[in-house]
Amino acid sequence: MSDVKQSGQLFDLAKAAMSQAYVPYSHFTVGAAILTASGELYSGCNVENASYPEGTCAEAGAIAAMVRDGETQIKEIYVMGEGDALVTPCGGCRQRIREFSSADTMIHICGPEGVRKSLTMNELLPFSFGPENLV
Ligand code: THU
Repeated sequence: MSDVKQSGQLFDLAKAAMSQAYVPYSHFTVGAAILTASGELYSGCNVENASYPEGTCAEAGAIAAMVRDGETQIKEIYVMGEGDALVTPCGGCRQRIREFSSADTMIHICGPEGVRKSLTMNELLPFSFGPENLV
C-alpha cells in the first residue's frame, strides 16, 4: 500500500474514532489512530465518566487495543481534536506513546480538515524516561 493511501486511512480512522467519543462532561472529542511497525491499524476515542479524572484519553484507548492484539511497536500515531489549537497528546499520553515508540516514530497532530503538525517522539517528549532506563 502506498504511504499516501495509508496516511489517508489513518486520518480517516482517527476521524471515525473521534466521532464515537463519549464526552458528556468536557464535550471535547478526540480520536487517535495507530499504525504499527507490522502494518496493523488501531484506533481509540476519549471516554469520560462522572468521576471526571477517571476518564481515558483517545491515545490510551488506541494503545490498549494495540496491546490487546499483541502489538507493541508504534510507527505512526494520528491524534485528532477540535478547535483551532493543536491537540497535542497530554503529558500522560506522551509517556504512554513513548513506551511503544522507536527513534523514527511519528506523531501527527490533526484537526478535522487535515494534519496540522508532525513531530518525532523526541520532539514531543525530549529527555524522556523509557524502558531502557530501568536497570
Ligand atoms: N484528551 C484526549 O483524549 N487526549 C489528549 O491528548 C488530550 C485530552 C481528552 C481527555 C478529555 O476527555 C478531553 O480530551 C478534555 O480534556
